[in-house]
Amino acid sequence: MSPRLFANAVAALCGAMFLGLAAVGPVSASELQTAVEGADASAGEGVFRRCLACHSNTAGGGNRVGPGLWGIVGRQVGSVDGFRYSAAMTGSEDVWTLESLNAYLENPRAAFPGTSMGFPGVRSETERLNLLAYLQTLKDQTE
Ligand code: HEC
Repeated sequence: MSPRLFANAVAALCGAMFLGLAAVGPVSASELQTAVEGADASAGEGVFRRCLACHSNTAGGGNRVGPGLWGIVGRQVGSVDGFRYSAAMTGSEDVWTLESLNAYLENPRAAFPGTSMGFPGVRSETERLNLLAYLQTLKDQTE
């Protein structure tokens, strides 16, 4: 193969790999971070209407069917006082990151087998990224 043909083949292969990555969405934590930064938090507030029946979104909003979600990004999993979590979440040492929230909100039962959250998940990636951008706003904005 001539060097030129070889270069073309490598370029085509890289292009295919790039498209492959694009098809499965953001893969690394930093790619997800960038995608969420570019997402639409106000559209995400609209997606959050699906959560409101079970989750409050304000400081001191308290627990409903599910725990209050104020400050959820960076909060320890299963840590709201007075909420009876499933065994899947009780005593977890993990902290909710954009990555773990993305996985849980895409498919709750796959990400947390045994979770008691009776919600099928948000399958649309665009909606999920907007929702994650909105969840990040649920904290004091003084930082
Ligand atoms: C039908 C009620 C219901 C709906 C709708 C629902 N959830 Fe939940 N959610 C729950 C319950 C119950 C739990 C506790 C799960 C457990 O203990 O396994 C939970 C847990 C969570 C947690 C973990 C909280 C923690 O303190 O660790 C997050 C994050 C969450 N839900 C986000 C959402 C979002 C975002 C939506 C909307 C897209 C949503 N939920 C929709 C009931 C619901």
